[in-house]
Amino acid sequence: MDFKNLCLADFQNKGEVNITELAADFMQFRQALNAERLHNYRRISNSGSTPVMRVQDEHTGQEREMLYFASNDYLQLTHHPKLIAAGHAALDKYGAGAGSVPLLGGTTDLQIEVEKKVAKFKGCEDALIFTSGFGSNSGAIAALLGEKGIAILDLLVHASIIDGCAGKETKFFKHNDMGSLEFTLKKLADRKVTKLVIVDGVYSMDGDIAKLDQICDIAHKYGALVMVDEAHATGVIGAHGRGTPEHCGVEGKVDIVAGTCSKAIGVVGGFIASSKNIIEYLHYFARSYMFSTAPTPQALASIGAALDVIENEPALREKLWDNIRHFRSGLEAMGVDMGNAETAIFPVIVGDNAKVRELCRDLHERNIYVNPVEYPAVPRRLARIRFSLMATHEKEHLDYALNNLEAVMRKHNCL
Ligand SMILES: Cc1ncc(COP(=O)(O)O)c(C=O)c1O
Repeated sequence: MDFKNLCLADFQNKGEVNITELAADFMQFRQALNAERLHNYRRISNSGSTPVMRVQDEHTGQEREMLYFASNDYLQLTHHPKLIAAGHAALDKYGAGAGSVPLLGGTTDLQIEVEKKVAKFKGCEDALIFTSGFGSNSGAIAALLGEKGIAILDLLVHASIIDGCAGKETKFFKHNDMGSLEFTLKKLADRKVTKLVIVDGVYSMDGDIAKLDQICDIAHKYGALVMVDEAHATGVIGAHGRGTPEHCGVEGKVDIVAGTCSKAIGVVGGFIASSKNIIEYLHYFARSYMFSTAPTPQALASIGAALDVIENEPALREKLWDNIRHFRSGLEAMGVDMGNAETAIFPVIVGDNAKVRELCRDLHERNIYVNPVEYPAVPRRLARIRFSLMATHEKEHLDYALNNLEAVMRKHNCL
């Protein structure tokens, strides 16, 4: 098997090969990658999300202490004492699980309290919390579009948004290109159905920010609603960490604010914040909410505590931004292609799947944990390594990563 030229796209189930055979072929590919130490997914952590992570090395069977640059736990709230204490208290009071779906007995006073907090934080009338960000996007979008609605998506939106649009009429506009958005909406001007423009606030593989003020103006001019996915923006951008609407000065103008509780919020779950009417509608029509057990009490309580920390402990966000500036200037000095990165996510664009795997392997050997982002996740010419920073990284961690990145990139003729 010429595994070096193969990638996940080659094993996608197109229905031509029986799944048992396809899975066996895929296993062979996985093992070939393993043998060359080129498999860099699903590394197992013995310590959770910490800037210095204890990782099981699948090749040696030994534990490695690695600098972790693959977390979305931007403020490291996963380990914040206030989140942990709130989670413990909720476990004691409500037990380990909600016991039922929200509509049929699973809604607690705790869930209502935290949903109100999310709504206030996002400047919306009301909110609801799902068990995952993937489920909140896919379930809410399908419900909002219904049978005839049209989704107008930025080309780089997250997979959960694409899945929400399955079976729906969907148009794409060029990434963050306002001319392309307006052109797309103009062509739909005569269609008297729900039109929903959906963007990410901060793009997960590129770290750039949606031009949300312009997007709101253009969409509303053509009678479309705007939905923004705040997964990588909440807690990171905006003067108070309230995300893209705050950063772009359009709080209260975005029709649907979606997000996840698994990144800077440091827990798990997803939310939709919007008008009272839209939220009430979603209680009954977003299938991933209606037909799925309510979030655990521990998660809800920790999410509530996280919002308080984001509001009351700005020093964490300031430290994150110090790190962002330091890392950016290091990458600039090195001359790497980091696209239009503006936030805590830094793509190091290499443009070659095989090289990305080799660079990640060599960085792993130097105890630096980064994720490869290969085709088909991004176009081949944009294959990359993705660094993400946390507030709790120290300058020495960043410098160690920068120095070693430079060394391995030179070794592989990428600089
Ligand atoms: C932009 C974006 N939206 C949504 C999600 C899904 O969130 P969750 O991990 O809470 O399911 C992710 C997570 O990877 C994401 O990056």
